Amino acid sequence: MSKSILITGGAGFIGSHVVKLFVEKYPHYKIVNLDALTYAGNLENLKEVQHEPNYFFEKVDIQDSDALEEVFDRHGISDVIHLAAESHVDRSISDPLAFVKTNVFGTVNLLNAAKKAWEGELGLHLFYHVSTDEVYGSLHDGGFFLETTPYDPQSPYSASKAASDHFVRAYANTYKMKTVVSNCSNNYGPNHFPEKLIPLCINNIKNLKPLPVYGKGENVRDWLFVKDHARAIDTVFHQGKPGETYNIGGFNEWKNIDIVRLLCKKMDEKLGREKGTSEKLITFVQDRAGHDHRYAIDATKIQKELGWEPSLQFEEGIDLTIDWYLANQDWLDHVTSGSYQEYYKELYEGR
Ligand code: NAD
Ligand code: TYD
Repeated sequence: MSKSILITGGAGFIGSHVVKLFVEKYPHYKIVNLDALTYAGNLENLKEVQHEPNYFFEKVDIQDSDALEEVFDRHGISDVIHLAAESHVDRSISDPLAFVKTNVFGTVNLLNAAKKAWEGELGLHLFYHVSTDEVYGSLHDGGFFLETTPYDPQSPYSASKAASDHFVRAYANTYKMKTVVSNCSNNYGPNHFPEKLIPLCINNIKNLKPLPVYGKGENVRDWLFVKDHARAIDTVFHQGKPGETYNIGGFNEWKNIDIVRLLCKKMDEKLGREKGTSEKLITFVQDRAGHDHRYAIDATKIQKELGWEPSLQFEEGIDLTIDWYLANQDWLDHVTSGSYQEYYKELYEGR
């Protein structure tokens, strides 16, 4: 096999789409999915590829340096695509240290394991770090995030991702490690854990439960279909220039309240409910602490230099997403049992 790629966080939302794309598109690559299977990791996301001969799974925490070294050694890892992270802003507000442990300490551990395994030939291997647009901070109503926008993280989540990005670039500068970083906007699509806005609303609309909109719902996010992000990661992995950063985005800004209304309208139609039924579930709740107002990516560089652009219009992607959730009740039942119930109560009761 020509490459042996370690994909971390491959049991999560975006990682599982990346793993599936690579396993299916590149049968001559060995794909090693390394994941600790936290609450957000779910091997059910990978059932389409779990028996493929080029797919391997390792249940390892990136905080465990010995286990990482052993995996690099045993699988002869040639390249890394690093997605494993604590990824939810609300959780980072209640437990910032968990984000430091995985996103900062875990990333440095992984960099060290790669550096050790590739000693003497660092220029031959790629460490690709997947990051977020949230590192750039919060925009007012105008302007976009460029690759050159100074970092200004505002939440414990984005601060931990910013720190990990800095470490990756520091390893490139100091040890001449071959690295690339991409910073993407908000993703949506199948397999998205229902603590995030879109899947949470789909699940609650389905169950006629309140739709918690933070503040006035005026915050703006730039949404990209997850499979388009996976395609972008494939493009950057194969064509990105070492040492570069690529912003990835959907050119698709929406106010939260408008997304929630769109979901209500579409789901009333799909579920055969009377028009306006789901909108009655909208409940304005206390705002998120330090809530970033607006994110918007300028994705011109990846478009012009690497020829990537989103393939789906937002409404098409939203239709696919709702249909997937309606057809996959078992998946939802599995991920919303047990600890999800406690998390939900803690975050939203009395808000
Ligand atoms: P997710 O929370 O759905 O998945 C994270 C995965 O990482 C899970 O499978 C989890 O088990 C695993 N993981 C967590 N801690 C780990 C540890 N210590 N060791 C090993 N595995 C661990 O996250 P996601 O939404 O798929 O995001 C993936 C990556 O993409 C993250 O780095 C995130 O910062 C970045 N990102 C996400 C978005 C988005 O909209 N979701 C946008 C841009 C960038
Ligand atoms: P989220 O999906 O958590 O992603 P992020 O915070 O990384 O952008 O939230 C998207 C937007 O939706 C954000 O502005 C917060 C808001 N939001 C709500 O209004 N209600 C909710 O229940 C959640 C989870 C988010």
